[in-house]
Amino acid sequence: MIQSMTDASPAKWNLGHTTWFFETFILETAIPGYQPFRPGYRVIFNSYYNTVGEQHARPQRGMLSRPSLDEVREYRAHVDQQMTGLLAGGRLKAEQLAVVELGLQHEQQHQELLLTDIKHALAMNPLHPAYRQDAAPATATAAPAPLTWVDFAGGEDAIGAKGAGFCYDNEMPRHRRLIGAFRLASRPVTCGEYQEFMADRGYQRAELWLADGWATVQQHGWSAPLYWQAAGDDWRMQTLGGLRDVPPDEPLAHVSYYEADAYARWAGARLPEEAEWEHAAAGREVAGNFMESERFHPGGKLPQKDSEGSGGLTRMYGDVWEWTRSAYSAYPGYAPPPGAIGEYNGKFMCNQMVLKGGSCASPADHLRASYRNFFYPRMRWQFSGVRLAQDAE
Ligand SMILES: [Fe+2]
Repeated sequence: MIQSMTDASPAKWNLGHTTWFFETFILETAIPGYQPFRPGYRVIFNSYYNTVGEQHARPQRGMLSRPSLDEVREYRAHVDQQMTGLLAGGRLKAEQLAVVELGLQHEQQHQELLLTDIKHALAMNPLHPAYRQDAAPATATAAPAPLTWVDFAGGEDAIGAKGAGFCYDNEMPRHRRLIGAFRLASRPVTCGEYQEFMADRGYQRAELWLADGWATVQQHGWSAPLYWQAAGDDWRMQTLGGLRDVPPDEPLAHVSYYEADAYARWAGARLPEEAEWEHAAAGREVAGNFMESERFHPGGKLPQKDSEGSGGLTRMYGDVWEWTRSAYSAYPGYAPPPGAIGEYNGKFMCNQMVLKGGSCASPADHLRASYRNFFYPRMRWQFSGVRLAQDAE
């Protein structure tokens, strides 16, 4: 039930909330006279849906000592059983089945949050416990290939979901974009490269930072990525496998948009536009270091798909979410769906930035080129990293 900060939720709450989603949006609408398992759960496990009603305040989720974990599991078993019955009956309409699928995709998002929220909670403990001893294993691989640039001529391209298979409303409508000539780095920025930025007084030089970024650095006294701590002249970091030396060759993670942007400026580059990233990833197989590798940490063996026929780009999917410099906003013609489901994505289209590609904590079949993750620029507890871009000459 630990809630280590407002942005994170207790594991028990994540479990109750994903269950609540199915109870509220499926069982209540599809079963005539359905009585909620416990009326109070409608409030405590409602995250942000004003259409559904009252919500327990997000920063207070860690105060929910009741229901117990056993009771939350009973709730889950009850809802699972009802859902199984409904699905077996085969009487759900197409629009209800679409909400079932949304509930499953929602649950995948919370599977990732479970890992990142647990990591944050464990990092707050001075004993630096491991989530799993075998997580974040050191890799004996050779240093990553030197960073090279992959050129794209740009032109007019369509971005957004193609409409084959599931997508979120925020990926629609697919529309045309004019993309200038650009180049993308062949791989994400590594921890070692970021240490060069730190050694060059990156965190002390205002000229490298956006105004809001510089203010945030001052306010929080940032001098390194989240989870890093100085150990003499070296750095150690909290991983899901406990406290480890910072491996210079692994993709950098747990930086804010502000840090990603400052690093890019220092490196004589910039962050990619969302459309550039999507253009570069189009037609590429979604393969990489995802949750299923059970590494729960960026890096490790280069995916097979990257070694052959990758067009020079590696680790586009998995490892770390890549910050883009595109604001999270509505595509032309976007309209949120009617009702409570319309609150899922649409109302957050302000003040957040888009991230692409998924992370080592994302379920593998959750991603695609058009997928739009979004976080506030100050946020660092997701596996968020950096891929550099440049304008082509
Ligand atoms: Fe949720």
